[in-house]
Amino acid sequence: MRTTVGWQADGTAGTLRRAPLDRRDLRPDDLAVRVDYCGVCHTDLHALDGDRTSPLVPGHEFTGTVTETGTAVTRFSAGDTVAVGNIIDSCGDCTMCRAGQENFCRAFPTLTYGGTDRRDGTATLGAFSREFVLRDRFAHPLPAGLDPAAAAPLLCAGVTVWEPLRTLGVGPGSRVAVAGLGGLGHLAVKLAVALGADTSVISRSPGKADDARRLGAREFVPSTDPARMAEARDRFDVVIDTISSPHDLGPYLRLVAMDGTLSHLGHLGPVTVETMDLLVGRKRLSAAGSGGLPATAAMLDFCAAEGVAAEIELLPSARVNEALDRLRRNDVRYRFVLDMSDLD
Ligand SMILES: NC(=O)c1ccc[n+]([C@@H]2O[C@H](COP(=O)([O-])OP(=O)(O)OC[C@H]3O[C@@H](n4cnc5c(N)ncnc54)[C@H](OP(=O)(O)O)[C@@H]3O)[C@@H](O)[C@H]2O)c1
Ligand SMILES: [Zn+2]
Ligand SMILES: [Zn+2]
Repeated sequence: MRTTVGWQADGTAGTLRRAPLDRRDLRPDDLAVRVDYCGVCHTDLHALDGDRTSPLVPGHEFTGTVTETGTAVTRFSAGDTVAVGNIIDSCGDCTMCRAGQENFCRAFPTLTYGGTDRRDGTATLGAFSREFVLRDRFAHPLPAGLDPAAAAPLLCAGVTVWEPLRTLGVGPGSRVAVAGLGGLGHLAVKLAVALGADTSVISRSPGKADDARRLGAREFVPSTDPARMAEARDRFDVVIDTISSPHDLGPYLRLVAMDGTLSHLGHLGPVTVETMDLLVGRKRLSAAGSGGLPATAAMLDFCAAEGVAAEIELLPSARVNEALDRLRRNDVRYRFVLDMSDLD
């Protein structure tokens, strides 16, 4: 075992405290990575609020520097900058893994935190820590030109919106609406705009209207204004729903054009759907999460080529509880990223 330090859930308080953490000794196909920057995702809040049986260290979108490689690693060497998302292993053998959709592995992918290592059965501890050890296959080289701090959120928030945008064929001529302008939402806007789509934002926060336009959205529709929502009816080929709380899908399905799709990415859990909201216009309801290795690599290349990265507020990691608290209050423009160097 090797020891590092990180931010661990403090009992049931919903806050994190600095704690020593164990990392495994390197296996032949492992990398040790010094975590430089890690984004704060709303899923971290859900995890903190949920039931816990094992120690929780959040953090699943990070960039860092390779410090050591296992004896069988050929893709990376010490000093390389890498990017890692919310999956760090999968069975490698099922139809999903063979299709490059490790995120949907039938044996369930190993999550970056709150998961169980496939080989030694230990609980995975996330990247709100100074060092991370993972299978090299699940690390991506960070393309030159991407700022490592602003790129960190691409690895969860970015790829989660990228896969549905791509698989739903979003491009020039597509009409896209993004519901919820937070971490996922602002990257969905930037990516949809960069893909050439005519993009709008649906938000309950009027104070975000100027930002929406600056990010490239043509229109800002306040979800709290029934008249504006009615005007936008049947207008979008794709609605990307990133809202973090349970909500009625009806108002968002009504925005979808005939044969279009509502991609429900934000809140995970049961939803109630009025089938008439699907029937009228033959609309589709879909969901997605995270990304497979090929899509993640393609997304990183696209972002480097198009200059897409997150709008971030960079904080020393010691301010992690403040970041979580502000994220809970929807007080973030548009992603907190923790600088882990204060853990040395
Ligand atoms: N499917 C996946 O694999 C995956 C991956 C990552 C995250 N997630 C989930 O995606 C959700 C968003 O994550 P995030 O990190 O982007 O969160 P975030 O930064 O907090 O953004 C969520 C946005 O949702 C809107 N919102 C929040 N509560 C709302 C409510 N009660 N009614 C209407 N709108 C509301 C707000 O936008 P406005 O102020 O513009 O209204 C807020 O900015 C979370 O639930 C997270 O767990 C899923
Ligand atoms: Zn996440
Ligand atoms: Zn699999």
